[in-house]
Amino acid sequence: MSVDRRAERIIREQIPRIDRSERGAVAEFDDLAGREVEGCLLSRVLGHGADGIVYAAKRDGREVAVKLFFPSAIAKNGPAETRERLELQLDLIGTNLHPNLVEVYAGGEAPQLNTLYLVMELVPGTSLDKLDGKIPPETIPTLAGQLADVARALEAEGLVHRDIKPANIVISDDFKTLKLLDLGIIHQMPAAEDETEERRSGMEFVATPRYSPPEFVWRQEQEDADGAWRAVTFYQIGATLHDMIMGKPLFTGYDKPRVRLYDAVRDHTPEVASENVQGWLIQTVQSCLLKEWRQRLQFVCWEDFFEPTGPVELHQREKRIRLRQLRSEEIRLAKARQVQSAPGPTREQQLWLLNNAFIGEIRTYLLNTPIFPKSRVSEEPRSQQEYVSRFTFESDESRDFPAGSFSHYMLRSTRPSTKPRSCRSVRRLGRCR
Ligand SMILES: Nc1ncnc2c1ncn2[C@@H]1O[C@H](COP(=O)(O)OP(=O)(O)O)[C@@H](O)[C@H]1O
Ligand SMILES: [Mg+2]
Repeated sequence: MSVDRRAERIIREQIPRIDRSERGAVAEFDDLAGREVEGCLLSRVLGHGADGIVYAAKRDGREVAVKLFFPSAIAKNGPAETRERLELQLDLIGTNLHPNLVEVYAGGEAPQLNTLYLVMELVPGTSLDKLDGKIPPETIPTLAGQLADVARALEAEGLVHRDIKPANIVISDDFKTLKLLDLGIIHQMPAAEDETEERRSGMEFVATPRYSPPEFVWRQEQEDADGAWRAVTFYQIGATLHDMIMGKPLFTGYDKPRVRLYDAVRDHTPEVASENVQGWLIQTVQSCLLKEWRQRLQFVCWEDFFEPTGPVELHQREKRIRLRQLRSEEIRLAKARQVQSAPGPTREQQLWLLNNAFIGEIRTYLLNTPIFPKSRVSEEPRSQQEYVSRFTFESDESRDFPAGSFSHYMLRSTRPSTKPRSCRSVRRLGRCR
């Protein structure tokens, strides 16, 4: 089995496991308004994802957001790993890492609910996944800069968010500020000496396929390669900005049935274009979405998310041309892959083809063999796909052969012809009159 086929099989088996937050998770703990949990008086639900439900709450007279992890999600993701990731988030308390990152206040175990919880700042605004087509284009460059800046700050701390996507971002009502939430699958990048080991374990995480790059969804990431995590981050930022620019989620129209989404991540080069968004940002987003992660890293750097100050340099123009070529090449490769993996004939079609070949052989033999009586063959179309071959034999008394005919149903294996084949065309084959 080829590596691609093997990867494909594994992915298809694992889809339910890696498919984070797009399965329409049923919210547990959705009737706790008015309850007190770990000193927080819960008031209303702010949202929920695959891992937990988030309430607005009052704590020491202050408005906060409280996330309660779904016990089912803890069991699925592994209690030890969930706890470890919660610890990573608690390590950020008081660090004021970045103004565009949700601030964490407290967290731990909530024994009365038999689960884990996290207390955060309550971010006012609307979740970006609820704002399709509503982001004013002129605000997008500023929001892009904020998103890139917070991801860069995390990287400087040796952290990768790994789940940057619209549902994990809140936009303020004036569209001026963006906050990145949900550090639920945050990953501590390894120290140089134990890089390979750590990266391998990092690969086993759960993610959101729609907003994750192909090397990640298809498990092709080079575990020990420099910059592999940065390439993931760039892709996820690009995928998020795609939605802001295009006003619709990435791979819309290429995601049903669900497994088709996985193919789209690998094979569909999304359109990123807008008359109202500056060319430099469109180019950055297209570069972020390059399928090949090493190329992505060659084309994107952190500065590309901020408006260029000087004139467009020659190498930038060359980059633009090269990017266009790479995107065309991606489209060509995907088409070639589709042709390769086009389904073969069904068993029924195979039998028809065998039948046609078999009867065709007999016909050719009969028409060319002088020991048989003179015969004619005519064809009558029955439908676009079927036709009837009629063999008519003359009587040949010398061989004691009575006149007769027989018909045989045939299925066209090539493009159907609407006209019956004339006897003349058959004549060339043999003794038709
Ligand atoms: N601190 C917060 N302030 C306001 N809304 C929040 C906050 N945290 C989460 N939310 C809302 O709750 C939703 C689910 O939270 P999230 O942490 O992403 O859960 P999950 O890990 O299950 O995806 C988010 O999409 C967002 O709408
Ligand atoms: Mg989330």
